Amino acid sequence: MIQDPPSHSAHRPITALVRTKDELRQRRTAMDGTVAAVLTMGALHDGHLALVLRARELADHVILTDFVNPLQFGPGEDLEAYPRTLEADLALVDGLVDVVFAPSIPEMYPAYPPMVSVTAGHAGTILEGAARPGHFDGVVTVVAKLLQLTAPHVSVFGRKDAQQLAIIQRLVADLDLPVRIEPVEIQREPTGLARSSRNAYLSPAGREQALVLSRTIAAALAAAPSVGGIRAALAAAVQRAEIDWDYAHALDPTSLEPVGPEHRGEVLVALAGTIEGTRLLDAAVAVATAP
Ligand code: PAF
Repeated sequence: MIQDPPSHSAHRPITALVRTKDELRQRRTAMDGTVAAVLTMGALHDGHLALVLRARELADHVILTDFVNPLQFGPGEDLEAYPRTLEADLALVDGLVDVVFAPSIPEMYPAYPPMVSVTAGHAGTILEGAARPGHFDGVVTVVAKLLQLTAPHVSVFGRKDAQQLAIIQRLVADLDLPVRIEPVEIQREPTGLARSSRNAYLSPAGREQALVLSRTIAAALAAAPSVGGIRAALAAAVQRAEIDWDYAHALDPTSLEPVGPEHRGEVLVALAGTIEGTRLLDAAVAVATAP
């Protein structure tokens, strides 16, 4: 269980639920000191709580956004089925964040779809983007809007969605957004399964099967620092085909391109597979130093 932070943020804010951009702007303007933003689509779990606790360590005030962004769902994806649990979300972060911003779709997008949007470029078309065309364009568009609205000094993002993290770092760099992006380690269940809102869709047998992902991560990390070793561990897992793999790659964490055997430095191990119709991700960063 995640503990309350020791932190300089001994103050327990009274959490306000804010539904409109105008009220958010007013509350943001009234905040003295530094602000951290935690952007979520709700259905909060302990993984999000870790983001909130990290945000509290980093800033005087925390704004959490809770918005299921339709723009990042493709046709036939689970937009309607996506869990919406605002009351439980509020209870989970009550007293830990200053503001929960939970706008309606028309509040976020008075014209839908918006005429002007942001595109994620090539990095948005590979890996998850290949399976979910347009997904990352929707992500970067809403993230740009939410960063604009919350105007934070820092925003925290989980490492599990490694491609999302890399693309958001590029969004901030390429558009000169005045915010620091702080990666937060993956939160795992005691079994090793990476925490995700989508785990809720799995049966007990599916959760057991999903452990292949974290075991493959462990095998790849055990094979570091050799890139060849990491790739061999990934290839062996895919060959065993215990789940329906989409990919298991060793990548450059910034460009998201596959690394060659000569690569030295950080290697992003990125996995995606489908279990019981649910797409699951896992990721880790290894450091390659040896042939
Ligand atoms: O990671 C998520 O939950 C979403 O993609 C994000 C960053 C909140 C944008 O909707």
